[in-house]
Order: sequence, then structure tokens, then C-alpha cells
Amino acid sequence: MAQVVRKLTVHVLKNNNVDSIIGNTAVRANSTWWSNVEMGPPDVILGITEAYKRDTNPKKVNLGVGAYRDDNGNPFVLPSVRKAEEILLKKSLNHEYAPIGGETSYTDAVAKLAFGENSPVLQNKSNVTVQTLSGTGALRLGFEFITKHYAKTRELWMSTPTWGNHPQICNTLNLTHKKYRYYDPKTNGFDLKGAIEDISKIPEGSIILLHACAHNPTGVDPRPEEWQQLSQVVKDRKLFPFFDMAYQGFATGDVDNDAFAVRLFVKEGHQVALAQSFAKNMGLYGERAGALTFLCGDAGTAAKVMSQVKIMVRVMYSNPPLYGARLVQEILNTPDLKQQWLKDVKLMADRIISMRTKLRAGIEGAGNKLPWKHITDQIGMFCYTGLTPEQVDRLTKEFHVYLTKDGRISVAGISSKNVDYVAEAIHKVTS
Ligand code: LMR
Repeated sequence: MAQVVRKLTVHVLKNNNVDSIIGNTAVRANSTWWSNVEMGPPDVILGITEAYKRDTNPKKVNLGVGAYRDDNGNPFVLPSVRKAEEILLKKSLNHEYAPIGGETSYTDAVAKLAFGENSPVLQNKSNVTVQTLSGTGALRLGFEFITKHYAKTRELWMSTPTWGNHPQICNTLNLTHKKYRYYDPKTNGFDLKGAIEDISKIPEGSIILLHACAHNPTGVDPRPEEWQQLSQVVKDRKLFPFFDMAYQGFATGDVDNDAFAVRLFVKEGHQVALAQSFAKNMGLYGERAGALTFLCGDAGTAAKVMSQVKIMVRVMYSNPPLYGARLVQEILNTPDLKQQWLKDVKLMADRIISMRTKLRAGIEGAGNKLPWKHITDQIGMFCYTGLTPEQVDRLTKEFHVYLTKDGRISVAGISSKNVDYVAEAIHKVTS
């Protein structure tokens, strides 16, 4: 120690450059404390964006992350969100802390959006709804709550395949996760028989994770009558349904239609949990506006659950960020603005649908002999193309088209400017 001090003093006297000394010492200290840390792999989805940004080829296309783009390939700020921003600015609001669970003007509005304006479970106050750091934050908080407070078995069952972050969150929490069949690669559609068979064998009391609409990554949703069957088997097995609803509005262009499964389950008496996100349907990706709801059966139980959720939030991030939630509640609680937003959602959903049609036509028009009907059959933001990892690799290396290894493309990244190029590239790697 004395030696280090002497060396530093000499250096300061010589160079009169304290910053460089502090910098050097810091580097040495870091390598001591953290030398055991190994390099982690890039995120399977967000890592694609990082690779895309590094690519200097002008033809590059990012179909990795599920983020909506306008027809010029630019991020889209919804007109309803722009108006809400102007309104908020005029209000000259302060920046005090939000309540631990978020403002009730927000949580009430988002719960109504999910469960319906006149939902009995909201009217009798048997719900606990808190603002979260978008959908991931809702899942993380919800799963953590389960690991601490759920009295039954702690197995969480998810569809094959599912969003990459679902198993990762479970791994972090040591929450056992298992799989039920969902996607049939032969038909590129929903495997109802396989799903029912597998779900019928899930141990009683387990948690079943369901994508409320616009399934990520497959773009394959059960039809209403199939949801009915799923609800029955979930009930027979006494499973706890946990819905992830990150794309309300993106499947059909209508937020009420897209809440069908959640509302059906509630009507059938299930006490569901629900993770919501406003990243996609309000384009508030970086604002991290989401919500977690637990239906608790009665107001007394809800109050107890709320008290424990608040304790959990307090030690994790204390209270949620204000700005995104303020925009959401302004839109949902102002009738004109809400009407505008519903139009904005429809506009985004319709553009994606038209890109599906153009992409399929482009690949088929190039003379490709493989079946591509699933591009237009699947719904929501994603298309599960069926491309192999090798074909994905070629798309990226030879054509600078970026997508996840499982062959999922974010159709929202396709525009009338790049659709022919992408179609041609897919045709070439699959021929
Ligand atoms: C996606 O699946 O691409 C999105 O949900 C973004 C994300 O965070 O993974």
C-alpha cells in the first residue's frame, strides 16, 4: 500500500494528471474484483439489433426485434401519443415519486382495457393491478411473486416454442419450467391435439403460461372454439393460468377482439394473472409502461396480495417511472384520444397484414416451390418462416437480412421499400 501511495505521489508530481492516475488504479482494481466473470452470450433477440447496427451494408434489413416501423423503415410515434405528449407538456406536471404500484388513474385504465369496461372482477375490486417496467417487468414481478407466495407446486409450463425471455426469467428465479406442445411444424399452425394431450398431464396446481394473442414467436393463435377447449382442460387440471399480453391490438387490429382469450378465461371462473405491455400497441418501447394483474377472488385477499406485491416492488426498484404511464393513462382516459389510438393500432396491424401479402407474393412470384401460405395465415407482429438455422445464417451473411436463429421474422420491419429484396433473399436461400 505504502508503495502504491509513493508511486502515485511521484506520478502526480511529475505529470500533475490526477485523472490518469485514478483511471489506472481503477483498471487494476477492477481486474482483481471481477477476474472470475466469464463473457456471456449476446441476447438472442436484442443481440441481433446490435449486430445489425454494426453492419455497414446499405441494403441491411432488421427483422429481428419486434418493433414496429413505418413504411419508410423508421420508428413510429403514434399520432395519439404525440397528442398526449402535447397535453402533458401543457399540464406542467411535477416529478414526485409515483406510488409503489403506480398511479390508480393508470392501473384502473389498463385493467379495464384488458378485462373490459364492465368486468365484474374489477367492479368487485378482486384484482390487484400494479404498474410494471413493461411486459418483462410484469413477468419478472409476477414470477417472483409466485416463487415467494404461491402455495402450490412451483412448475411453470410454457408453449413450444415461446418467447426467449420466458424461460430465462424462470432460470433467474430457479422456477422450474416445462413445455407443452403448441406449434405444429408440419402445418405451420396450432397443434390443438398435442396441446390438449400435454396440458391434460400437467400436475394439478401448476402454472400455465399462455400468450393472450399474437403468439410470439409463431404468429399462431388458437381460434375462439379452441380457446374454449383450452379453458376447459386448464380448469379440469386445476391449473393457474398466467397470460402474457404484449400485443393487444396487433393480432386483429382490434383491442377488444384481442382480449378475447383473457376475458373468456375470466368469464369461465379462472383466477388469472396477466402481464401487459404498451411497448408495441402504443409504440412506447423505451418508456417501459406495463402492468401486472392478479385476480384474487375477493377484495380482502386482493388487499393482502397488494401489500406483498408492494413490498416486493419497493426492494426491487422502489416505484415505477412516470412518463410512459402518464401517456398511456392520458390516452385511455380521454375519449377522443382513445378513438385516435384505436385507429393508430388498426393502421399498424393493417400495414403488417399488407406486408405479409406482399412478402408471400414476392417469394412465390420468384418461382419458389415451397409452401408459403403460413406467411399470410399467421397473425400479429411475427412470422415463423420455417427457415433453418443454416438458411438464417445465409440470409444474414449474404444478404444482410437480420432475424432470430429460429427463423422468426418481425414483419413490422418489412416495408414497401425492402419487401422485394427480402422476398428475393428468402427465395435464394431456400431454393
Ligand atoms: C421481441 O420478441 O422481439 C420483443 O418482445 C422485444 C424483446 O424484448 O424481445
